Amino acid sequence: MSSIEVIGGEQLKGELKIQGSKNAALPVIAATILNKGISRLKNCPKILDVIHMVNILEELGCRTSWDQNTLIVDSSSAFVTHVSEDSVRKMRSSILYLGAILGRFHEVTIAYPGGCLIGKRPIDFHLNAIKKLNVTQEFLGPDKSIIHCYTNRIIGNDVFLEFPSVGATQNAILTAVLSEGVTRIFNTAREPEVTEVCNYLIDAGARICGKGSSFIEVEGVKELHDVEFTLSPDRIVAGTYMAAVAATKGDVVLLNAPGRQLDSTIKVLKRIGCNIEVTQEVIKINNKQRPLPIDILKTQPYPGFPTDMQSQLMSIFCVANGMSTIVEEIFESRYQNVPELEKMGANISLEEEGNKAIINGMEALHGAVINAHDLRGGAALVIAGLTAEGTTIIHDAGYIERGYENICRDLTCIGARIRYCSDNA
Ligand code: UD1
Repeated sequence: MSSIEVIGGEQLKGELKIQGSKNAALPVIAATILNKGISRLKNCPKILDVIHMVNILEELGCRTSWDQNTLIVDSSSAFVTHVSEDSVRKMRSSILYLGAILGRFHEVTIAYPGGCLIGKRPIDFHLNAIKKLNVTQEFLGPDKSIIHCYTNRIIGNDVFLEFPSVGATQNAILTAVLSEGVTRIFNTAREPEVTEVCNYLIDAGARICGKGSSFIEVEGVKELHDVEFTLSPDRIVAGTYMAAVAATKGDVVLLNAPGRQLDSTIKVLKRIGCNIEVTQEVIKINNKQRPLPIDILKTQPYPGFPTDMQSQLMSIFCVANGMSTIVEEIFESRYQNVPELEKMGANISLEEEGNKAIINGMEALHGAVINAHDLRGGAALVIAGLTAEGTTIIHDAGYIERGYENICRDLTCIGARIRYCSDNA
């Protein structure tokens, strides 16, 4: 993995275009399996997670190609119903192939994606939902970690999700699209990335009502058809760059930015002192003062404040003018950055139970040699480096490349002193 070197102290200024959304691209790429034809996905980010998902399509027998940022998938030749264990373990989102392959072939074999650094991340809600659609499940292998699902007919049913899980909602929809009858899914996730996969499927001929709400109804159709679909800009990438501007007292215009999807993040950034103006697909943000603290910031399912923006806000709170508290309600281990920020002089205490962090803002952080531990946490360390006095080296920057096409290119273009370097730096 490469490293990133940041020399802190620059105020970010200028214009920046936001890449296509990772979390929209991943389920839509899985969904292309349901269409026995051609899907053209425009504005698809060229990031590691997307490359992994595309490699799985190839394993399944699809033909894929790129025309700049348009991914072209021809699923007509897909025939494999088994996703190799190696591929699944590379990334959690590969579990979205569970519903997609099952929906198309009525059978799938796929390994458990396993835990990851931000938490246990089980898939019980996915499996419970899919089982309701007349699907038999068995667990194979010495540790029962291989899931085999099969059915002769996928039959619509009522499905209640225990929690509005993004992935479980997407998997239930993917399984139901080509079913017989109607599937009513209760307590669905309202995240824009669920809406996005619904929009792709509807454009390809699926019948889905209720996207963006807590209740989604899928009426099974016989087949999908060729489709061209443009993926939305990435709300978390836009939010990350807004956080970088807030932390460095910068002044930046984000182009192709999904303003409406960022309501809760924008509210929080305004509370810490930023001036923000949102017009169609453009966000203007500037901050003229040391960030203000926030009493309590809680992560919640959409439309609440996103867990994927929590680490970036923590980096800002490290240099805020007072004490802030973060309560992480979605994932159980999302404070991996704390020891890294402490190496930079941050003052953070974690409550014993682990989901509450109290951050005492310092005048400034100082540069240090630190490690990224996950995607958003890694991006948040870049923000800390931008605010710090001196040079920060972030090792294991490969985590960041999973979701940001080129964070160094983007931040350089708005005035940061940042570059990729070798791990020995
Ligand atoms: C998606 C996003 C991720 C984001 C998260 C929450 C993608 C590719 N990833 O992840 O960036 O942080 O939503 O907004 O879109 N859970 C269970 N059992 C399950 C499923 C989930 O207990 O079967 C738990 C999880 O451990 C977690 C919570 O539910 O604590 C939310 O997870 P979920 O909404 O499913 O997140 P993902 O879809 O994995």
